[in-house]
Amino acid sequence: MKALVLSGGKGTRLRPITHTSAKQLVPIANKPILFYGLEAIAQAGIKEVGIVVGETQAEIRAAVGKGEKWGLKVTYIPQSAPLGLAHAVKISEPFLKKDEFVMYLGDNLLRDGIDTLVDEFKKKKPNSLILLAKVPNPEQFGVAELSNGQIRHLEEKPKNPKSDMAVVGVYMFDSNIFKAVKSIKPSARGELEITHAIQYLIDKKLTVLPHTVAGWWKDTGRLEDLLEANRLVLGSMKTRNQGTVDSASKLEGIVIVEKGARVVNSTVRGPAIIGEKAQVINSYVGPYTAIYHDTRLENSEIDNSIVLENSVVESVKRIEGSLIGQNAVVKQTPVKPSAYRIMIGDSSRVEIP
Ligand code: TTP
Repeated sequence: MKALVLSGGKGTRLRPITHTSAKQLVPIANKPILFYGLEAIAQAGIKEVGIVVGETQAEIRAAVGKGEKWGLKVTYIPQSAPLGLAHAVKISEPFLKKDEFVMYLGDNLLRDGIDTLVDEFKKKKPNSLILLAKVPNPEQFGVAELSNGQIRHLEEKPKNPKSDMAVVGVYMFDSNIFKAVKSIKPSARGELEITHAIQYLIDKKLTVLPHTVAGWWKDTGRLEDLLEANRLVLGSMKTRNQGTVDSASKLEGIVIVEKGARVVNSTVRGPAIIGEKAQVINSYVGPYTAIYHDTRLENSEIDNSIVLENSVVESVKRIEGSLIGQNAVVKQTPVKPSAYRIMIGDSSRVEIP
């Protein structure tokens, strides 16, 4: 069995972060999202992984390499343009050949990994096994209609959903999927849709079974989802201190201070993580915050946020619910007139009180 991880895409909902970097490498609790998926794949005993990459391939290749870190053998599959999830499957046939495979969307997180999914696929040997999760707002997802324990119909963002079971970003297929992805036509948004390919399998009377997610699942396509995933992962971590914390500082609750990090005259109220060589000086870091490596937070307060590498936050009263990109500077300045002076990327979002 092989794995196919999708790490291309447009990432329009996460601009401006995705103008310059891969959304799959945004850290959740200081670890790139994609790494959680690769860990889950390795944990399920799969060794050969194809990673579909797009414009951000250099960055993904640099972060993942050959996959030795997880005991995996990684093959990169460049996609000329983000033409849909089923298009990604289509171009991966030379890698997947006749093997069964798990397809994992590189921006998805599953608390309990994919072991039970893979086990069920091996045991029941269907043509496809689709991971589903019960959601309160099915109209925003691909929704599965079930009968007699099989998936009968899939509908993308239906106005009147026939069930509350949403399609999660992990699927298992045998080689029948290639016939399906070659037979379907692009949708109204110009993409080859995986839901159409699965519907093709159903229509051809192949066996498409559901598998319900046990723990939580998060698709991190939007800022709100990234922050929630960060909260969920931080909440399940254990306290660890490998940095230096001076005697004037207080760490409360689950706090992880990574190697070389410095906390000076500050309060960190967990769950929170302070990355390698980060400096937190005269500041407050509140619950559900992840400060990535080599950042500096000085005379500021922040909570429920993610700060990426090499960024500086200085003399800012309070930041919350925010994602601050790499090499960014957010600071108060004494220069008059007192006003907001901003240089922000295209499609950015700034909310001020
Ligand atoms: P999506 O989040 O559905 O699509 P997107 O990345 O284009 O984002 P947006 O909707 O905000 O514009 O993609 C799910 C995952 O699949 C994500 O990791 C990107 C990847 N993907 C590909 O690798 N190739 C593709 O053609 C598409 C559409 C997505």
